[in-house]
Amino acid sequence: MSAAGIPEPSPAAAEGRALSDVIIRVEGLTKTYRLGSETVHALRGVSLDIRRNEYLAVMGPSGSGKSTFMNLIGCLDVPSGGQYWLNGQPVAGLSEESLARIRNREIGFVFQSFNLLPRASALDNVGLPLIYAGVRKRERRERAAVLLDRVGLGARKDHRPNELSGGQRQRVAIARALVTHPALLLADEPTGALDSKTGEEIMALFDELHAQGQTLMLVTHEQDIAEHAHRILFLKDGVIERDDRRQK
Ligand SMILES: Nc1ncnc2c1ncn2[C@@H]1O[C@H](COP(=O)(O)OP(=O)(O)OP(=O)(O)O)[C@@H](O)[C@H]1O
Ligand SMILES: [Mg+2]
Repeated sequence: MSAAGIPEPSPAAAEGRALSDVIIRVEGLTKTYRLGSETVHALRGVSLDIRRNEYLAVMGPSGSGKSTFMNLIGCLDVPSGGQYWLNGQPVAGLSEESLARIRNREIGFVFQSFNLLPRASALDNVGLPLIYAGVRKRERRERAAVLLDRVGLGARKDHRPNELSGGQRQRVAIARALVTHPALLLADEPTGALDSKTGEEIMALFDELHAQGQTLMLVTHEQDIAEHAHRILFLKDGVIERDDRRQK
């Protein structure tokens, strides 16, 4: 009993609650690429937990394994070794169909180069993941419109990517990444193609999404960008060199 007379949870119950808070758990994750006779050890044993509503930045020199790590977390690629649990479920051994479902429902991706469909409107770009999720057209358009409002582009729904600024294109990409309400938003150098002012505006949006409960992990080369996160991982030669949690 606590001083206030409230029964305290048993250690097992506390552990159960803590475990359910872990979205991603990886242990000893490795990735090896073979290029002809050469073997590249891109990741050499990475272990960590990512909890609900964490805000992580991944930094490290070029070639340290940042994109490789993000692609494994996002199930865009399969590890060479180690273990990976997503929402408590082991990812190894899942069928390609199950992995595609995870990519569609559980993970949202944002890339440096936006990766929008050039001939489709902002609204149709944002609604795209919902086609794969089997959502009907009317609901797709409604949900895409809500997301475009949320990223501040309510007045640009019918614009195509080439009718939008770089920062606006990235907002469309962020809205698309969020339209399925993913457990985790992954962004690989999301400000890399933007000038610093526009980059800061995109970071302000990520900060806002985090404050609303979104779990986020982004890769960046820039310290200023990484400072927005509450935890910074430093990768070097395929291992975690430092894992800094920061007071905010
Ligand atoms: N498809 C591939 N085939 C072979 N080697 C690869 C492949 N992808 C990445 N690598 C190698 O794996 C290592 C890690 O690459 P990765 O792209 O993860 O680095 P990064 O930290 O994202 O670098 P950058 O900051 O330049 O984006 C590098 O040595 C790279 O050359
Ligand atoms: Mg990279």
